[in-house]
Amino acid sequence: MKIYSVFKHLAFKLDPEFIHDVTINSAHMLPFASKLFNSRVTEQKYQLKKGALNWSFPVGLAAGFDKNALAINFFENLGFGAVEIGTITKEAQLGNPKPRIFRHPNIKSIQNAMGFPNQGSTKILENLKKSSHQKICIGANIGKNKKTSEAMTPEEYAYLYSMFAPYSDYLIVNISSPNTPGLRNFQKKELLLPILKELKTAQEKNSKPIFIKIAPDLEVENLKMICELAKELSFSGIVATNTTIQHEFGTGGLSGEYIKPYAKMIRMKTCEFLKEDPSQTIIGVGGIDCYQDIKDFWKQGGSFTQVYTGLIYHGPELLQQIKQALDLDMKKNNFSTVQELHKNIKEID
Ligand code: FNR
Repeated sequence: MKIYSVFKHLAFKLDPEFIHDVTINSAHMLPFASKLFNSRVTEQKYQLKKGALNWSFPVGLAAGFDKNALAINFFENLGFGAVEIGTITKEAQLGNPKPRIFRHPNIKSIQNAMGFPNQGSTKILENLKKSSHQKICIGANIGKNKKTSEAMTPEEYAYLYSMFAPYSDYLIVNISSPNTPGLRNFQKKELLLPILKELKTAQEKNSKPIFIKIAPDLEVENLKMICELAKELSFSGIVATNTTIQHEFGTGGLSGEYIKPYAKMIRMKTCEFLKEDPSQTIIGVGGIDCYQDIKDFWKQGGSFTQVYTGLIYHGPELLQQIKQALDLDMKKNNFSTVQELHKNIKEID
């Protein structure tokens, strides 16, 4: 029996957040424990570059898993090409009352109503500076504190950008998590524009790529408007998608297999709206749990991918499976690198 199957069998009997915290703390203290899973990718052939980003493997860890930047080395050793830390808020906050994470194993999904519990920007930056990672790409996902007023929100995003830009490869403006009251309203133009303008000003001092993370529940017109703003203001692209609130399980956002069709549809539209601007990069997340999902996204016009729920249900072997499928596809189509495979993906089956 594989190590993760044994771990999962026991872990799924216990509270999801308790297990998550134990995992992150263990990964923090034992970064080389990931060697048990024998998955690190060191060969150059798996590298994917687009715009200013260069990932050693085309799959990264999605936001919310390593909120406090405690286990970057572990995830690098595991084989991820990137890790998105956060969501980071200016001040530390506890988030919503527990329990706030629920598994739905029959549909390989997770429901969460976390509300950005995190150690706050000062401590997370300290954690990030202490990390001895080497090649893994670092995304800093930033958000607002629950108590921050609408009027103060743009300034807070700019503050966080300036703080984390020197220590990360790209930044993500999170305006799509469903568990901070009013946050998703910032996906409307009149509220989004002031944030983006503040960020543009902050970018003048230290220019790092900025992405906007969107919800899978966006109306098409709204999505189009966000894509237009990303282009007009020369942001680097979109992360699609966050969790959905369109489900029958109560409060919180749903992720995993349940959101696959919705996230896929939003990614398709995002790619369509951004296709004539090659400077825009789309990072795909939401229900991705096999190479076929990645391939579908590449065929839509996307680039990098991320996983969260897939890692919970399939374990680190997921990265191995994707790596093997990439190898097979490269061999079958006579490409020696992932970069070439990605570039020519629309021409192959
Ligand atoms: C998340 N996600 C998330 N996203 C984000 O931008 N900031 C966050 O703090 C969190 N926190 C978080 C906690 C938990 C428990 C889950 C399951 C998810 C969303 C995550 O990054 C991703 O966008 C979605 O989960 C969709 O991807 P998957 O899970 O279907 O691969």
